Amino acid sequence: MFSKSEIINLLKDESQNDWLFSYADKIRQKYVGDKVHLRGLIEFSNICKCTCKYCGLRYENKDLKRYRISSNEILKYAKNAVSLGYKTLVLQSGEDSFYTQEILVPLIKEIKKLDVTLTLSIGERSFEDYKAFRNAGADRYLIRIETTDRNLYKELHPNMSFENRLRCLSDLRKLGFEVGSGCLIGLPNQTIESIADDILFFKENNFDMIGVGPFIPHPQTPLNNSKQGSFELALKVMAIIRIMLPDINIPATTAMETLNPNGRIIALKSGANVVMPNVTTKEYRKKYEIYPNKICINENPDKCRFCIENKIKSIGRTISNDYGFRIKT
Ligand code: 5AD
Ligand code: FES
Repeated sequence: MFSKSEIINLLKDESQNDWLFSYADKIRQKYVGDKVHLRGLIEFSNICKCTCKYCGLRYENKDLKRYRISSNEILKYAKNAVSLGYKTLVLQSGEDSFYTQEILVPLIKEIKKLDVTLTLSIGERSFEDYKAFRNAGADRYLIRIETTDRNLYKELHPNMSFENRLRCLSDLRKLGFEVGSGCLIGLPNQTIESIADDILFFKENNFDMIGVGPFIPHPQTPLNNSKQGSFELALKVMAIIRIMLPDINIPATTAMETLNPNGRIIALKSGANVVMPNVTTKEYRKKYEIYPNKICINENPDKCRFCIENKIKSIGRTISNDYGFRIKT
């Protein structure tokens, strides 16, 4: 296992890149195999009460047209995704208080009747909310820590608290969710040392999924003039995470593909074993603009499903047809 100083050296030393990527790929193959899990992503509301300085959905971005998808329409996308072979659906949104327990619990129950696993990614909620979602049948929850550097966290997340984020992660674990976290790479004032701490934090908490993506500046945010994160550095962080947590699920993130036209395939060959294609239609896709130049904004669910399958097959891998839980080794 890598120590903090070893992680820092690996991240700083470019001559290690090729070794690192191919070693992560070997570990991936040994522990989670050649099957790639697809998770169908439903971005059901872009309304958000938060003001995270990097995010295009932030409350203060008044230029964005906001939408909420009704439960019936969400269910329609869910059914279509299941017919396309998805075994996991991810319901993601901004932090939108409209979606109370009263709305989400029946929706979760309906989706769970479709014989799929269900992941929620809807931000910080109370223990009671999480408990209600879990009891309704939700299997997994994604909430990135974004950065473990407390000063940076504070600077980037006005009116939010790092402690509450930790509380969410710990509540979710207590309730028996599979818990996913992750971080952004290349945030302004983020150091290599703090990224090493992020990796150690993931290891310590033994999360079931970790998503890592490069920071991409959005024009309608306070970070519009900041430097973009590095694709290579994000990939290296992902590879180190695979080596340190060999049996977890790691997505090839959409943000990686935004910075490199072959980003998801490169990620799949450097430790990743999950892809999360969008399963909604284009009227919503372009409005879920967390960062600019998101991929697939003019596509439809069928197109993405077959596109990604072809890409995955082209590197000798196959699509998994099981639910894709973490199998602890
Ligand atoms: N660039 C890249 N990723 C971003 N996210 C939010 N804003 C950006 C951005 N500008 C990521 C966050 C969040 C996830 C849904 O999207 O890490 O957790
Ligand atoms: Fe959407 Fe390729 S995954 S077009």
